[in-house]
This record gives sequence, C-alpha cells and structure tokens, in this order.
Amino acid sequence: MSQLDSMDKLVSLTKRRGYVFQSSEIYGGTGSVWDYGPLGIELKRNIKEAWWSAMVHQRDDVEGIEAAILMHPRVWEASGHVDGFTDPLVECKVCKKRFRADELEGARCGRKPSKAPGAFKACELGEPRLFNLMFKTFMGPVEEAAATVYLRPETAQGSYVNFLNVQTTARQKVPFGVAQIGKAFRNEITPGNFIFRTREFEQAEMQFFVTPGTDEEWFEHWRDARMDFHTGTLGIRAESLRFSEHGPDELAHYAKRAVDIQYEFPIGWKELEGIHNRTDFDLDRHQQYSGKKMRYVEPGGGGRYIPYVVETAAGVDRMLLMVLSDAYYEQDMGRDRRTVLGIHPRLAPVKAAIFPLVRKDGLPEIATRLHDAFKAAAVPSFYDAAGSIGRRYRRQDEAGTPWCVTVDGRTNEDGTVTVRDRDTLEQVRVNADGVIDYLRERLAR
Ligand code: GAP
Repeated sequence: MSQLDSMDKLVSLTKRRGYVFQSSEIYGGTGSVWDYGPLGIELKRNIKEAWWSAMVHQRDDVEGIEAAILMHPRVWEASGHVDGFTDPLVECKVCKKRFRADELEGARCGRKPSKAPGAFKACELGEPRLFNLMFKTFMGPVEEAAATVYLRPETAQGSYVNFLNVQTTARQKVPFGVAQIGKAFRNEITPGNFIFRTREFEQAEMQFFVTPGTDEEWFEHWRDARMDFHTGTLGIRAESLRFSEHGPDELAHYAKRAVDIQYEFPIGWKELEGIHNRTDFDLDRHQQYSGKKMRYVEPGGGGRYIPYVVETAAGVDRMLLMVLSDAYYEQDMGRDRRTVLGIHPRLAPVKAAIFPLVRKDGLPEIATRLHDAFKAAAVPSFYDAAGSIGRRYRRQDEAGTPWCVTVDGRTNEDGTVTVRDRDTLEQVRVNADGVIDYLRERLAR
C-alpha cells in the first residue's frame, strides 16, 4: 500500500473523476483559480456542513452569519489591511518573473535548468517593493479613487462589524462567537500547489468574543477543539497533523498569540488553519474608525468593555485538499493495482454505486428501481451499467465511493444484493429492501 507522494497524481485523479478542473481551461486557464466539478462540490459541501454543524449547530454559544464580500472601504483601513496587508515583491528585469522577496531561496526562476531567482549571471533582480494583496474594484459606474472597494481578503471583518447586531438580536452574552463560511480573495504573488494557495478561496472562520483576561484560556480551548475536529469529524490521521506556534516576529499585526494547525501535505508540512488571539485590536479599531461604540454591556448594568477575540480561521479548499491527500492510496492487487480515495463515508460525495451485474434477466430494471429508492431517500448514489464489474469497482474506488451495491442472479431468487466495502473489499449479502437502512447504519458509525 502506498500513499500520496506527489501533488501531480492528485491533480490528474481529481480531474479524471470530476473533482477539480482548472478555471477557464478552454482559454488556457486562469492563474491559480480552480473550479469544483460534480464530485468536488459534493465533498466541499460535506466538509462545510461538518464544520457548520460542529461550530454552530452543536453549540449554544456560536451564531452563524453571512456577511457581504464587498464592505465599506473604511473597514479595510480600520483593520490595517490597506496599509499592512502586503508582501515584498521583486521582479527580474530580464525574464520579468515576479517573486516574493522573503521566499527567494525556495523559489525557482523561469530559466532552464531552473535555479533560485538571481542565481544565474544574467538575472537582474530589482529592488523589493511592497505589494498589497487586496483585489480592488469600483462601486458604481465611475472608475475613480473615491469609488474604490475591495474584495474581502478574510471573512473575519464581516463578523466584527456585526458583533453588536448579532449579540443583541440573538440575545447572546459574552463569551460567544460568530461563525462564517465564505469566499475570500488575495492577489497572491506566488500562488500554486494546486488548490493549496489560490487567489480566490473559501474560508470557514469563527470569531469568539471573550472577557479580557479569559482570552488565554479560551485560546487553548479552541486550539484543542479545532484539532479534535480534524482528527475526529474529518477522520484525518493524527500523525499527519501538528501544532506550530508563531514566534514573536511571525505574528500578524493584530495577534497576541497564534498557533497554526499544520498538515503534512505531499509538498511538506503546511498551514491548514490558524488560531489567533486578536485581543481587542479589531473591535477597538472599528470603534475609532466608525465613531460607533463597539462595547459590550454586561447584563444588569455591569461593566462595559471591548471584548477580546479568539479566532479560528480555516481554509475550506485546504481542508478539502487535506481530505483528498489523506484518503489517497494505491494498492497492489496481484494482477493489477487499484487507486483508492478512502474518504470517510460521512464526507464521501457519493455513498453508494448501484450496478446490475449484467444487462439482462431484468437486473437493470431492479437496479434502476433501487437507485430510485436511494434518490427518494436522499442518499447520494450513482447508477453504472457500463463495462466489466471489475472496472466499475475501480472507477468507484478512485471516486471515493464507500459502497458498491450489485444486483445479480440471486437477487431474482431471494431478493438480496451484494454490498462491497471499498476499504476492506468485504462483500456481504443484504436484503435489497433493507440496503438503504443498512448503509445508513454504517454511515452513522
Ligand atoms: N482571518 C484570519 C486569516 O485570514 P490567514 O491565516 O491569513 O488568517 C486563514 O488565513 C486560512 O485561510 C489559512 O489557514 C488557509 O487555510 C486559508 N488561506 C489563506 N490564504 C489562502 C490562499 N491564498 N489560498 C487558499 N487558502 C488560503
């Protein structure tokens, strides 16, 4: 059994099986932007649903919202993004390629054989200049500076500016949180590694408002809760996840403390999610810039204060990349080899594939009726009658489908079907009438 050793394998498998396509592919593609296909979007929805359930539905103290992508431009002045959300950019005057000045060592220049930028005699690197990562656009018909708005680079600010709206309407008391899932945009200088770093991506972020002085305790709580989510709910191998504490010189401008949860991707250990103690930085700045009070008033006329914020900030695309990377394996089967996406059944896009063993003896009709029953029960399933049974199994293994249900000669005699397990390859006979309940029970494990 071997596991994923290169990102290229995943790129081609996910394209072949309809998980991820390059955006605008027929025009040559858009730089580091990707589209999710039929299976990809189902997996993404299942991951987001799992996150929302854990963060919002299974708790009393977190409320969900969906703030707009376009916000008042002053928001980004207050948050520090207009002045500070920059990366140092250097350009080679000869090949015109651009690099992050702080990542030159690990970068490769466009010449062959490829070396680090500046390593060839002919290279001529310019002076580093700060490049703001926010995408700009214009609100209304006039393209002038006063009409400039930004595509949000994080969802967090939408939760801060709505802090009091949520607190009063949901009648929450500090400590409580505001959760959001939504698109964010960053004009990254060096995007890449498939969907790991893109210019348009999705975040699942939660801002937890706490009484100052309790922030460190809450930080530890959320750090551990988020790790448990990845190992427990998403079913990721614990040995492929670790914490990485930010040193004082790595902290973002708003952070008092930050820990990344890293996953061992095929490109090495990389950030999956950040847990940040953002203190009262954001609410205090919004109070200054908007002139509106951002204070929490304790019930019964108690104290008034600006809460501290403990943030959990995960990338949805990165969670999806982690789920795929963790699930991938190749297995020697003697005469051939199978490639499997062993995705946790709860997250798998399709729960069962339904096959008639042969296209005669009324088997396709029985299989079609079974497929209809799956649709009526809203259990995602896929009907496939094309090719040998072996090939059909292999296609579903690659697609990550946990069970294949085969209607065969015995079904006509005793009403049973075969259920084949993707991971153990075990086959059991189950009553066709009870197969949905059987799989539901397996899904609930
Ligand atoms: N609100 C805090 C914040 O945005 P961040 O560490 O910059 O913090 C949070 O981003 C998460 O968003 C990251 O851990 C990562 O999973 C995801 N993310 C950030 N930039 C990304 C990009 N260019 N492409 C894909 N995901 C990205």
